[in-house]
Amino acid sequence: MIRYDEQTRAFLLCGKRYGYAFYVNRVGALQHLWFGAKLGVEDLRFLVRAHGDPVSPHPDDPNREMWNDRVPVEAGCFGRGDYRPATVIVRRADGAAMSRYRYAHHTVLPGAPTLPGLPCVRRADSTLTVTLRDDCSGAELDLCYVVSDASDVLIRYTVIRNAGGEPVDLLRAWSFSLDFADPGTQWHAMRFPGTWAQERIPTETPLAEGSLRVESLTGYTSHFSNPYLIVSPDAFSEEYGTCYGFQLLYSGSFALEAQVSPYKTLRVQGGIQDTLFSWHLAPGESFVTPQAALSYAPDGLGGLSRAYHDFYRDFVIPPRFVHHPRPVVMNNWEATYFAFDQDKLFSLIDQAAALGADTFVLDDGWFGKRDHDRAALGDWTVNQDKLPGGLAALTDRCRKNGLRFGLWFEPEMVSEDSDLFRAHPDWAITHPAVEPVRSRNQLVLDFSRPEVVDAVYRSVSRILSEHEIAYVKWDRNRDITENWSAALPPERQGEFLHRYTLGFYRLAARLTEQFPDVLFEGCAGGGGRFDGGMLYYFPQIWTSDDTDALERTKIQWGTSFGYPLSTMSCHVSACPNHQTGRTTPFATRGAIASLGAFGYELDLTRLTDAEKDAVRAQIAAYHRVEDLILTGSLWRIRDPLAGNWFCEMVVSRDRREAYVVGERFRGDPCDHQRPVRLPGLDPDRLYVVEEMDLTVSGAALAAVGLVLPRIGDCESWVWHIHAR
Ligand code: DGJ
Repeated sequence: MIRYDEQTRAFLLCGKRYGYAFYVNRVGALQHLWFGAKLGVEDLRFLVRAHGDPVSPHPDDPNREMWNDRVPVEAGCFGRGDYRPATVIVRRADGAAMSRYRYAHHTVLPGAPTLPGLPCVRRADSTLTVTLRDDCSGAELDLCYVVSDASDVLIRYTVIRNAGGEPVDLLRAWSFSLDFADPGTQWHAMRFPGTWAQERIPTETPLAEGSLRVESLTGYTSHFSNPYLIVSPDAFSEEYGTCYGFQLLYSGSFALEAQVSPYKTLRVQGGIQDTLFSWHLAPGESFVTPQAALSYAPDGLGGLSRAYHDFYRDFVIPPRFVHHPRPVVMNNWEATYFAFDQDKLFSLIDQAAALGADTFVLDDGWFGKRDHDRAALGDWTVNQDKLPGGLAALTDRCRKNGLRFGLWFEPEMVSEDSDLFRAHPDWAITHPAVEPVRSRNQLVLDFSRPEVVDAVYRSVSRILSEHEIAYVKWDRNRDITENWSAALPPERQGEFLHRYTLGFYRLAARLTEQFPDVLFEGCAGGGGRFDGGMLYYFPQIWTSDDTDALERTKIQWGTSFGYPLSTMSCHVSACPNHQTGRTTPFATRGAIASLGAFGYELDLTRLTDAEKDAVRAQIAAYHRVEDLILTGSLWRIRDPLAGNWFCEMVVSRDRREAYVVGERFRGDPCDHQRPVRLPGLDPDRLYVVEEMDLTVSGAALAAVGLVLPRIGDCESWVWHIHAR
């Protein structure tokens, strides 16, 4: 719901549980009033009178612009008396970069706009666009607010237009800015840093005067950080307290910044990484930023996570996959690495079918001369030495076994030892003055160049058109280092990284539109590109290369703060685990992997008969809960980063059913008698806990809980709970 009050020139935006308000103040700035619990239109006048202008203690002070850095605004200015970080910086042709944005006009339109070449929400009830004008550069800013009554997420983005007669350069073009007005609050922040095989570890920081930046400089969102920041005026808790979330629907280098000013006010903003960024705008041209997804929850981190889960499922993920059961996958990577031939794959396919998998996925190594990771990326033609029958022999074998076939690509990359590189060395991102960084022995293709994207499109789409392929695993195994394109003039090099990301989106859009029935799974050396932008194209993402069932509890736990279970691809792998050397029970590996899009990543032909039976049973058990995994509400119960236990519960939308999975890391003589509270069910209903043959009310489960089972190292348990 979007309302405008003419008398106060105030706007109120309301979603399911939030209210958001701002108004045009006396000097024409767009002054922020409120983000929090839902308010009524009648409250607008109260907000303006009680919390609006004048902010200066000297309202008639002729130097009132000096008070600019205390006014909470919707877009931060640069210079002109506001010393907080700017939201948009526009440099004029004469080199002056100073800006002060003043209200010009606004429109409210039904629905959600489509952004050219960028991921965006698929639908909404209405969109408010407030146009501000900068008197110095002549630039116009459209601040866009996309609102859905049924969502707790407010979408914001900015369009910057050069409305003057001279060219300008954008030095920063962030998607949103939000000033919390409460001075003196002790704010807390949570971010999700990580590394390869240890992605998205929730990390709390108290905010003090100064800036906290969550950012990526790698050309993609990366393992090191996630475009997600949470702030709270309360200590963080799963169930209690106010939380504000900020995510970007963007997969390139980004920055999110939380700054506490000397006046103890908090500004949170972000968008495309501004280090090295610039964008040239000729008169009349405009620039559209990625969308930011802001959310408010009164019920702690759990409430905030559920708001984002609903948002991704209802508004972002391709609808054709969102409520559709995901295939149970058998992937050959950890089973064979590069060492396979046709016979080996046949035996894996036969075994996958015999044990009940839905899809066989052939990973890296099927193309060009790809016998190791030093060659062939870019040569997307089948390796006939390894696979004499071509892909057709494999797809036939799958079809005969009732399986679907999936295939691995790494479309953004090139090996120097490849036909593609030999033909087009300039298509790789390098700079003539430096020796390129050869991460994983490969280079990145220059996707800022349309002809490169077109060529990759042709080779990937040919394979997809010529074969029966139901699933694509889209990998990306390195970052961008030499940030430079041979195809851009010197004054436009600042556009390179964003143009790369736009090129990637163009390819993802083209392929997913041409092959709408193919399920694309994102991947980046595991979970290095797990973000809302990816989820617009690809409904699921390989969560991490770490498949150890203990480590995975932490990674999946951290990932769930922002993204629903159905987006996390999770596989059972062999033990000792290839990443950690740890041995965990087969049942635990199955239980932890069942909290996502499920599959196997081991040599099924080497399993014992008992393990084969376990696989059959695990797949059947997964089919029983897959609807909960796709559509249920997640409650995080025991934090694996904070103790000896992991536990999560998924509750069906109608609260008639729940699935609980837990793991205990080390046997401990004293810690098993503690009850674990299970909130989220209907307090007035009676439930049966199947594994315990217990009948108990939802109220008692939430208040009293169940006693944790007495189990050993890395053992797990599941509880199926259903309404009586
Ligand atoms: C990294 C991925 O995360 C793995 O699953 C596997 O696909 C390898 N790349 C293949 O090179």
